[in-house]
Amino acid sequence: MGDIATDRGAGLPADASPGQQVPRPDLPEIDFDWDESAWRHIGGRFLDLTVAAMTDWEGRRPTPHASVEEIGERIRSGLPAQGQGVDALIDGLEADLLPLSGYHGHPRWFAYITSSAVPIGVLGDLAASALNQNPSLWRAAPAATMVELETIDWIKEMLGFPDEAEGIFSSGGQMANILAHVVIRDQMAGWDVRRYGMAGPDGKGVPLRIYTSNQAHYCHHQAVEVLGMGRDAVRDVPTDDNRQMRLDSLVQMMDEDVRAGARPIAIIGAAGTVIAGTVDPIPELLAIARDRGLWFHVDGAYGAFGVLAPSAPPRLRAMADADSIACDPHKWLYAPIGAAATLIRKPGALQASYGFKARYLQYVDEPGRVDLAERSMENTRPFRALKVWLALRAYGREGYARMLERNIRLAAYLEALVEATPGLVLAAPRDLSIVNWRVEPASLAGQKERLDRLQLAVIHELEERGIAIISNAPLPDGSTALRACIVNFRTRPEDMELLASASLEIGEELAAAGDF
Ligand SMILES: Cc1ncc(COP(=O)(O)O)c(C=O)c1O
Repeated sequence: MGDIATDRGAGLPADASPGQQVPRPDLPEIDFDWDESAWRHIGGRFLDLTVAAMTDWEGRRPTPHASVEEIGERIRSGLPAQGQGVDALIDGLEADLLPLSGYHGHPRWFAYITSSAVPIGVLGDLAASALNQNPSLWRAAPAATMVELETIDWIKEMLGFPDEAEGIFSSGGQMANILAHVVIRDQMAGWDVRRYGMAGPDGKGVPLRIYTSNQAHYCHHQAVEVLGMGRDAVRDVPTDDNRQMRLDSLVQMMDEDVRAGARPIAIIGAAGTVIAGTVDPIPELLAIARDRGLWFHVDGAYGAFGVLAPSAPPRLRAMADADSIACDPHKWLYAPIGAAATLIRKPGALQASYGFKARYLQYVDEPGRVDLAERSMENTRPFRALKVWLALRAYGREGYARMLERNIRLAAYLEALVEATPGLVLAAPRDLSIVNWRVEPASLAGQKERLDRLQLAVIHELEERGIAIISNAPLPDGSTALRACIVNFRTRPEDMELLASASLEIGEELAAAGDF
């Protein structure tokens, strides 16, 4: 082992020119770099901005109260011809970007599935940018590649996946699922799709079919579209009263498809649907997939990590036997946005779909050395795993188990508040941390369309008044409900109480005024 001094590299000789006959070029005078004191001064100001963005949650609204025009006027300034002082830039960020942002980390941000970002993850992103690693080739980013490999190993362990399974980070659940769909298609088509495309070697490729519940996220439909399999390749299977995929309908649809000349290749089970957080009957779906020789994928973008929480439905654990899982550390591991993972049980399958071994890149075979560019369609890729690796080390599996359990119990509390409040009605069974409910003032009893409009008006007013941001849930009968998703380590019981009472008060106020 060399000491640090000898490991630093040779450095430049005073005169690096091979001969005096080549004059040095005449270069434009320009410098982009900062010295240490600039880093300390500007870095300090950015840290102040970060602290302001990450504290004083009750002092701000979940979303800004500003029109598109106002936001345009305050943010846009045209491409500057000359550079400007960095202090003035930070003043602008403080004055405009901070107050005009939406805050997923607000204790009453309940819309979509966007979590509060753990502080260590926020700073992890800063370190990742400072290191500016590209974990695509081992040679370019050895430590970052090892961090990503270890983080994937931890995720496998948390979800019960075997050691030999492989995985890759990507930007979000959408991409993580699409990356899995490529592997599913390539492994299951029965011909070399990478070479011949969907038409097959003889132009007679069989239509392939994949089955999800009709509550599934649209990413599966987008996947088959972008893969050239056609929208019909995804079949939306009806759900039962619990919003879970109906097994009888699934089997019936597969049989119909086979009779029509198509080939079922995969079943997708939801480990938490986007609308009501429903966990599909994973053990039963797995059994059907095994019986028919199909691939079983779990879309766990939202709920996969829920398996850590003691009160999550036990059927979630069966995802350990799936062929692939998509999961999102930027949802329920509270990583800052931009961290999802695809896990594939079969070793080598990711590389079989994505590997290229480009002629102009050097590859070295060495046990344990992995070029992650061979496992996805990203070549240059950010060091996404660092923030997740740091957060898992900072809080540990047990810490996460407790925090996820807190979120689930808060959702159960909101559910109980709704049940106990006349004028509020539960609109879906709850499996994890999403609650669907409706505001139904007695004065609007039986007025279906007006009640639907009222739900949307309540969602709008909750946001408008800066109380909370929630989203809408389409219900199986075509009506609309309010929907809150709790994937937030800042949310407290008081926030649930305020959400339930404010939704009722606003609903009654609007109903009385007839103003919606
Ligand atoms: C079940 C499910 N799958 C996929 C996605 C897409 O994830 P992302 O928004 O991170 O791309 C979501 C997002 O809410 C989801 O709930």
